[in-house]
Amino acid sequence: MANARVTVHPEARIDRIEPEVHGHFSEHLGRCVYDGLWTDDVAEQNGFREDVVELLANLEIPVLRWPGGCFADDYHWEDGVGPQEERPRRRNLFWAQGREDIPEESNAFGTDEFLKFCERVGTEPYLAANVGSGNPQEAADWVEYCNYDGDTELANRRRENGHEEPYGVKYWGLGNENWGCGGRMSPEQYAREYRRFATYVGSMDNLMLDQNLELIACGFANHEWNHRFMEEVGKTDWGVEFPLDHLTLHHYYGRSMSISEASEEKYDQFLVEALEMDYHIERIASAINAVATTRDIGVIIDEWGAWHTEAVAENGLEQPGTVIDALSAAAVLNIFNHHSDVMTMSNIAQTVNVLQCLVETEGDDAWVRPTYRVFDLYAPHKGNDALTTSVDTPSRDVECTDDDLPFVGASASVADTGEMYVTVTNLDCRDGHTVDVAIEGCDATDADVDAQVLFEEQAPDLEVDASNADDFAAEDLDVDVDGDVLSVDLEPSTVAGISIP
Ligand code: AHR
Repeated sequence: MANARVTVHPEARIDRIEPEVHGHFSEHLGRCVYDGLWTDDVAEQNGFREDVVELLANLEIPVLRWPGGCFADDYHWEDGVGPQEERPRRRNLFWAQGREDIPEESNAFGTDEFLKFCERVGTEPYLAANVGSGNPQEAADWVEYCNYDGDTELANRRRENGHEEPYGVKYWGLGNENWGCGGRMSPEQYAREYRRFATYVGSMDNLMLDQNLELIACGFANHEWNHRFMEEVGKTDWGVEFPLDHLTLHHYYGRSMSISEASEEKYDQFLVEALEMDYHIERIASAINAVATTRDIGVIIDEWGAWHTEAVAENGLEQPGTVIDALSAAAVLNIFNHHSDVMTMSNIAQTVNVLQCLVETEGDDAWVRPTYRVFDLYAPHKGNDALTTSVDTPSRDVECTDDDLPFVGASASVADTGEMYVTVTNLDCRDGHTVDVAIEGCDATDADVDAQVLFEEQAPDLEVDASNADDFAAEDLDVDVDGDVLSVDLEPSTVAGISIP
């Protein structure tokens, strides 16, 4: 007998799930770039980590944000182009770096290395320009270096550095957390800076170097700040174009929880915090909608994920990879699907070794974490139309919060071919639940329904390493089909993907 019911409403389409919602973020922080994307910070031993390239290429990651994070607003891109032995070594203001855990930057991995890495992986680059300590000229020059096809010094410098054709970088972030590490600005101050940068970086039809760039402003999880930013940006008469395509915010959760000393109560609190993503998307969308613009402005969550007490600056923000973190990612990806009408991208933090990374490395080994498995399980949603779902689920009061934790969550989508895909989470770490998934008006009796499940019989805090990484792979899940109702048994802390052709 089912104790939770998910109803999928195929007639109530929400919007396309942009593939970029499964995007990633990499910063010059700890072992993310050096020892993660790149072999080392020693110029003579340079080279991409082929094992990491292969794992990310297999996942078909749609977009990768770089070089930060806080690092972005302390980064001067010209330090990282040209012959590697001539590049200046700089202090890294915010983070420990590479194998020696030193706060210095060799600049061995710069713009060309990053953009070639993206080409190898088959992903779109998203560059974050320096607003906090940079200037509009520097940002505009970066665009010219990357994208211009003419006979200028910067375009020719790119050619000399090995890339004849323009890279065609589409996504440009103007600043990172400018309310904090990116300059501690008021929203009005950032709005004024943003307008200056947007003018020179250029994305307006009346500029000769129009590149159809997508410009991204960095918002805040304080929504009053976002309202004030939008009002100020909207004040000036910009003519026909409004110079903003996406507004972002960052949502980390679990900051007070040690993953190695957590309890069932703590897991519940952690998951409730993760589910606050829903509130943040609604609020930032409302800040956008409050101001009339000539552009359709999307919501990006360009840093998100679990951040536990284990991850500190001194260890390059490293923390163990666990099932509970992966489960939170599944819950958040469901939320993104529900908001496909406003969500244009997200970038989980951070791709390799740092925070809720998907891939971990140690010496010559590289392996995938449970969160990678979740992204893989959710991949069929990419590019589909999201469908409205309603969920009737048991829940539990969560100590130290005003919230309940709803145990069962879900999202659904449909492909052009008519194939539907439903993902269902059981966030209850203590008990299993039987879930009826009703697809309104769709008799699945003769359909070749296929289902997979992650994390059966895995403890929420089980840590992944090179020796057990394969144990977290998806397994087949039994589905009972009765007309338009599909029933599945979900063990504690599991996530399932069901496809209905
Ligand atoms: O991802 C780590 C840091 O978290 C980033 O540098 C910053 O943007 C955020 O506060």
